[in-house]
Amino acid sequence: MQQPQAIIFDLDGVLTDTSEYHYRAWKHLADDEKIPFTREENDAHLRDVGRRESLEYLIRDRQYSEQQMQEMMGRKNRYYQQCIRSMTSADVAPGGRDLLQEIRQRGIKTAIASSSKNSLTVLEHLGLIPLFDGIADGWCVVNGKPAPDIFVYAAGMVGVHTPDCLGIEDAAAGVEAIKAAGMRAIGIGPRERFHGADAVLPELSNLRLAQLLDAR
Ligand code: G6P
Ligand code: MG
Repeated sequence: MQQPQAIIFDLDGVLTDTSEYHYRAWKHLADDEKIPFTREENDAHLRDVGRRESLEYLIRDRQYSEQQMQEMMGRKNRYYQQCIRSMTSADVAPGGRDLLQEIRQRGIKTAIASSSKNSLTVLEHLGLIPLFDGIADGWCVVNGKPAPDIFVYAAGMVGVHTPDCLGIEDAAAGVEAIKAAGMRAIGIGPRERFHGADAVLPELSNLRLAQLLDAR
């Protein structure tokens, strides 16, 4: 593609493997509540899905009051925060820091578009905050992915029109959000996970900018 003016990254499962920690935290909660929940279900249904929507998926038609749901969301978040507490700069996807530096050296803006309210904490642990021109997280918009809002918000933060942005995602809902925002979308993961992506790459590890721009 023509060189984008901004590259907007999802965080969990793209720049770092926190999607595994989200899974473990939901699994811990599901085990507490004796709700069956598998890794396969997590991959198929919870990747990039917001906290409440994830809980709603997990409990399905079991009856819980709003107060009980709030308590469960809080409990899952505490389990998640225990997982991310020990993260360090070594937890950035291999080559991720070099890729961000290369993008910035080329004069392209970098931004985060993550649904997670824990994004800033994770980025601080990873030492990545100085490498982003804009960080849009779960506190910024009301409608989560697959709505385009978080990507549009991130583009606004860096002052780039959405057609000039490239979005990078590891989840189907995220690719849908990027496309709805009018951006080019790259999916990171198995090809069968993504339908609407413009290009798919198996992983972000050790990628250079040219490979990102030439991806099909
Ligand atoms: C991201 C993750 C999801 C997570 C959501 C909300 O989209 O991929 O797994 O459920 O953020 O995260 P939070 O940290 O706010 O509960
Ligand atoms: Mg993700």
